[in-house]
Amino acid sequence: MTSKQSHRKDEHVSLAEKFYDSTAESAFDQVRILHQSLPELALTDVEPATKFNGVTLPYPLLIEAMTGGSPTTGKLNANLAKLAAETGLPMAVGSQSVALKEPDLMPTFTTVRDYNPDGIVIANVGAGHSVEAARQAVDMLGANALQVHINVAQELIMSEGDRDFYWLDQLAELVARLDVPVIVKEVGFGMTAKTIQKLTAIGVAFVDVSGRGGTSFAKIENFRRPEKDMLYLDDWGLTTVESLLECRKLTNRPYLFASGGIKTPLDAIKALALGADCVGMAGQLLHVLLHHDLDATQDWLERWLLAFKKLMLLTGSPTVKDLRKLSLVFSPQLESFARQRFIS
Ligand code: FNR
Repeated sequence: MTSKQSHRKDEHVSLAEKFYDSTAESAFDQVRILHQSLPELALTDVEPATKFNGVTLPYPLLIEAMTGGSPTTGKLNANLAKLAAETGLPMAVGSQSVALKEPDLMPTFTTVRDYNPDGIVIANVGAGHSVEAARQAVDMLGANALQVHINVAQELIMSEGDRDFYWLDQLAELVARLDVPVIVKEVGFGMTAKTIQKLTAIGVAFVDVSGRGGTSFAKIENFRRPEKDMLYLDDWGLTTVESLLECRKLTNRPYLFASGGIKTPLDAIKALALGADCVGMAGQLLHVLLHHDLDATQDWLERWLLAFKKLMLLTGSPTVKDLRKLSLVFSPQLESFARQRFIS
């Protein structure tokens, strides 16, 4: 039961938590939103609902891909699914490739449908999977969409990782042949405008920039790696904020999820103000769930969502789209990034 791949799923959870740091500097601190003393709004007038592929989401927040693939992580998936069902938030599972290889691990993923039969559930595989495998992952969950993760940095640090990254042709085939929307996502290393252009050129309409700033798979895999010779990559990648700025250069902008370091409702507001359509949260929610029971985690999440609504009011934004109109002030460091990257 505890194959190497299955054991790795437990390690990812425990190491994500080991490196979780509530006091870490956040790239979102490099962005300020100006205060509104006269928003001329009541909390009841604020509408946090948004759309994803024509479906209404109650809030622009996705419970990000994390886990499944071992008995312990199956229980985590069940609890995440209960949270998703109670709040109506969409939820992605962690990579299902382990369950495609070891079918006895399937229940650690399908549990999310058992507890959330009507919710929006998103399947997840790594790039390089065939259309057939991707279909199996979607069918396993009756999923509404598929995330395909691209994680070159993680694989290269892993001793047992992939070394072949010709992915674009296969991604194009998935987009063309699957019946569900395909979201191409990073895993915490961010994306440049050029990466996103390559994706939109092959028909990808949904992208999750998943930037640096929260869970670091460089740190996680460097910890797992016996040789401590790639630690210099611990801070590799673009932050989520930088990735969103990169997107400003795009003329053909896909639907943008922004994950990576989203901890507070204010981080989410800033990501949406920078142009994201929806944000995603992984490590922060995992941290709360690992330290509290399900009821307390649900309380925490509901307070988070209420605070998000309050911040919409505070910024004078009756809808999520209005967040895009906010005036932002950048730190000198971020302003320098924008200048050097020719972002206006
Ligand atoms: C992840 N993430 C992830 N992503 C993915 O596409 N497939 C996966 O299997 C996993 N596995 C996984 C395990 C754990 C324990 C964590 C915390 C995260 C990455 C995740 O979806 C997200 O892109 C990053 O974690 C950045 O978001 P946060 O954690 O900073 O909010």
